[in-house]
Amino acid sequence: MAVSPDKHTKRWIRPLPKQVINKIAAGEVVERPASVVKELVENSIDAGSDRIDIIIEKSGTKLIKIVDNGAGIEKDQMEIAFARHATSKISSFQDLDNLHSYGFRGEALPSIASVSRLRMVSRVADADSGHEIIFEGGVLKSLKPIAAAPGTVIEVENLFFNTPARRKFLKSESTESRHISRIATAMAIGRFDLAFSLNLNSRSIFSLPTGSSLRERVSGILAPNKKFVSVSFQSDKTTLEGFIGVPELAQNNRYGLYLFINNRFIYSATFSHALKAGYEELLPGGKFPIGTLLLTVDPAEIDVNVHPTKTEVRLSNEREIHDIIFRAVRDALRQDGIIPSFRAGHGFAGSRSSGDASRPRPGASSVIPGIGVNHPANTEFLSQLYRHPDNIEIGQPIAEPSGKHGTVRVDTHTGEIIEGPTTEPADHIGPSGGFRLVGRFADLYLLLQSGEDLYIVDQHTAHERVLYEQTLERVDRQSADSQQLLFPVQIELSPVQFAVFEDSTELLTICGFSAAAFGGRTVNINAVPALLSKKSPQRLFGKIIDDIASLRKAGLDLKKAVAQSIACRAAVMSGDRLTDREATHLLDCLLQCDNKYSCPHGRPTFIKITRQDLDRQFGRE
Ligand SMILES: Nc1ncnc2c1ncn2[C@@H]1O[C@H](COP(=O)(O)OP(=O)(O)OP(=O)(O)O)[C@@H](O)[C@H]1O
Ligand SMILES: [Mg+2]
Repeated sequence: MAVSPDKHTKRWIRPLPKQVINKIAAGEVVERPASVVKELVENSIDAGSDRIDIIIEKSGTKLIKIVDNGAGIEKDQMEIAFARHATSKISSFQDLDNLHSYGFRGEALPSIASVSRLRMVSRVADADSGHEIIFEGGVLKSLKPIAAAPGTVIEVENLFFNTPARRKFLKSESTESRHISRIATAMAIGRFDLAFSLNLNSRSIFSLPTGSSLRERVSGILAPNKKFVSVSFQSDKTTLEGFIGVPELAQNNRYGLYLFINNRFIYSATFSHALKAGYEELLPGGKFPIGTLLLTVDPAEIDVNVHPTKTEVRLSNEREIHDIIFRAVRDALRQDGIIPSFRAGHGFAGSRSSGDASRPRPGASSVIPGIGVNHPANTEFLSQLYRHPDNIEIGQPIAEPSGKHGTVRVDTHTGEIIEGPTTEPADHIGPSGGFRLVGRFADLYLLLQSGEDLYIVDQHTAHERVLYEQTLERVDRQSADSQQLLFPVQIELSPVQFAVFEDSTELLTICGFSAAAFGGRTVNINAVPALLSKKSPQRLFGKIIDDIASLRKAGLDLKKAVAQSIACRAAVMSGDRLTDREATHLLDCLLQCDNKYSCPHGRPTFIKITRQDLDRQFGRE
């Protein structure tokens, strides 16, 4: 660092030499090799190219070469392209409000040229020949005519050779390569209509033709042959389109996610948050979805001039955009086929053929809290969950009319019935008319038939989902369903558990616990939620507190953490044998849930196997 002169020394204020200014600017624009790739490819796209080849050696420290077939640069403009703040893309500040190019600062080329050895060959289509210009550390070395194809080739060699500090701060080759792959992939997705190739360290990473659709490009690059869900939204001013991976494709990092605003690959906290929120609880904690979303808004609504690398964008109507993305993603994931969906019905028809044997005997206690027909809390619980317009008697399976009984139309976005079913007398509910319990497996999975499809339901996750939503609803209504203990119990909590307990006492009370500190770290438990009344309060309480602690750590809010824990602990387990009626009720309740597809931890509640899938497996097709 320069030594500061004392205050009596005369200070000269003078403009810095051009090369120094450019090198300082390069510090902001050119953070690493991947930033060079980004800037140069953006220039190629701005020049109207429809084929862009990217060749990288030694993770960009040796060579970054971009070949395009765009407009090219006239001979007398070659040098000026490397002057700071020289651009062909805007001419006034107002132009920024209606920006249709990636570039606008006129900073990339001079910055890159100042920290490398740069050679550019360019030719406009109607010129007789091309021209070659060479810079070293920002100093012009030569400019001369050369034979060339129309378009531009840029070779950036020895990046950061004259800024050793920057060079030293580069990460390992594999990290820099990963950044390059990511940015090149982003460019290829953002402009899926253009041909792109990436050759990285002598390996061809991708080579993509022009004229691809977004779907082809996304699945082609991100996860060939994997399932993506289409997301779309359109209003006068805003459109959203894209493809997002089914929850199973989620990763532990954000690298599979490509978000764009007005074709600009950006980082936006609002955008990511809305996307994740749209998955609701389908994603286990710490997982990130894969896929891409392209948001297009009126250019006047965004400010791209926030950060030197233009990777951040400010939106003027953040809330509205958040809402649009959240809803579009959520609706897309709820649609049929993404996560298996009970599309056509609003309820399951119970298995009529199962006979009386499976009916619970009067007075027999049920395995299934909150669901079982003889459970004390059951009647009230079921009446809450049956929000069916036709006021069907509790316990009565809801029919889905078959073709001959009339049709039902369901809004695939909300799952609401638009044209309600005509309820048939019970005897008319034929097995083919709706969802039918056809069996069970391993005392865990319920097998159902609907039309030509087979559904396999995990009784534990399904029940967890039902109880979770029920508990949340109770918390909101502050209407705990509590069961007094005949003999209050005392348990000693660890210091960490006690802190969690103090933090969540209020919510635990709302959920039906009555527990109070009793001196030291001892807690006196007088009542538990009715759902948990069959479990041992001693063992349960500590576990619930531990669940809450770890869910909180994973970023869940307290209310959801408490509800999840109670739901998980109260739900039927693998090995609990359900009667047909209990199973049918559980499925009915599941269908009424806001999110019937997964348990609160993100595991699926059911999977679907179509007749076609089976036929294929058996070689019938
Ligand atoms: N591949 C290319 N083909 C044709 N012209 C190009 C190409 N690359 C750069 N240019 C021209 O050189 C000019 C300067 O490029 P530079 O990247 O420095 O600035 P910019 O793209 O205008 O703005 P920004 O600094 O925001 O990228 C561009 O405005 C463009 O006219
Ligand atoms: Mg540029």
